[in-house]
Amino acid sequence: LNNGVALTPPMGWNSWNKFGCNVSEALIKQQADAMVSSGLKAAGYQYVNIDDCWQISRDSSGNIVADASKFPSGIKSLADYVHSKGLKLGIYTDAGTATCQGRPGSYNHEQQDANTYASWGIDYVKEDWCNTSGLDPQTQYIKMRDALAQTGRPIVFSICNWGVNSPWAWGPATGNLWRTTGDISNNWNSMLSNLDSSSQHASAAGPGAWNDPDMLEVGNGGMTQTEDTSHFSMWAIMAAPLIAGNDLSAMSSTTLSILTNSEVIAVDQDAAGKQGTKVSDNGAGLQVWSKTLQANGARAVALFNRSGSAANITVNWNTIGLSNASATVRDLWAHADKGSFTGSYTANVPSHGIVMLKIVGSPLSTTSYEAESSNNTLT
Ligand code: GLA
Repeated sequence: LNNGVALTPPMGWNSWNKFGCNVSEALIKQQADAMVSSGLKAAGYQYVNIDDCWQISRDSSGNIVADASKFPSGIKSLADYVHSKGLKLGIYTDAGTATCQGRPGSYNHEQQDANTYASWGIDYVKEDWCNTSGLDPQTQYIKMRDALAQTGRPIVFSICNWGVNSPWAWGPATGNLWRTTGDISNNWNSMLSNLDSSSQHASAAGPGAWNDPDMLEVGNGGMTQTEDTSHFSMWAIMAAPLIAGNDLSAMSSTTLSILTNSEVIAVDQDAAGKQGTKVSDNGAGLQVWSKTLQANGARAVALFNRSGSAANITVNWNTIGLSNASATVRDLWAHADKGSFTGSYTANVPSHGIVMLKIVGSPLSTTSYEAESSNNTLT
């Protein structure tokens, strides 16, 4: 959406994956504080997003009312607090009559709610799709898009309709991001399923408009450290929003080091805004993914081992749009230059792990890149 925000994929935190309906002013302040003190803010994380269950009713004029037992100072005061930390505040609503947890939805209150959010200083709105029987997603999300625009406040608009009615087709003109899948669960297979679905729509992504394979589960304990690293790497290759979903106030140093890897974040945030794609697959879980970066001849490459045992995976220059001439290779998790290589590079990758590389070489013409793109080999 051409509204001046989210020119790179949004980075932040959201309450849902870890805390569900258990949101409060105290929690949001604690997470905002932790975003700063942990170093996440310095790494680029910015949006602190309240998900479902902050709202409780509408007043006699139809204005949305926050649950005063959870948010005693009100949302405006919370926004002021979050802004005072140099961060931005996001909020959640639903296009239907009620949210997924049964709180009041924005149906027929789109402009009124957008005005309320803007008056509070909200910077990001996620609109869900529960309780929308008989409604057309594109029509309803356009209503909220236009209502937000009408306020004059720059607000990231997050479409959360789980891929219903192909949002990758109309999403780029309607929102800054759109969910491509059902909800992520805190496990390896769910993460892979969302990855594979979202990867089908790479051509829809670009500055201001992102496929959303759902929020991160890094640090929530359902995956191993190796799997969390793969999850974060693949979200970066896909130019996905990086919305942490863990308790930022109680992270292990391992989780922190995954979420703040500046070289992997730079892949996600690359200004060209191109979503990466799978360029080879041996059919047994050994895959190569490549994201074209803005710098000439630069690619972010994931050697991804989804199989049950360690394996060598090779990326051939021709499959990532580079000539066989010498190219430099840097390992983005080891933070190490590997040297210059001609034609290909092979690494041993642990089961469920990733070797993430930045490769800089000589670009092939588009035509030969496409012609060669199904030609990779895995060893
Ligand atoms: C839906 C959304 C989730 C979350 C919950 C809240 O399931 O897809 O991301 O917002 O609703 O109820």
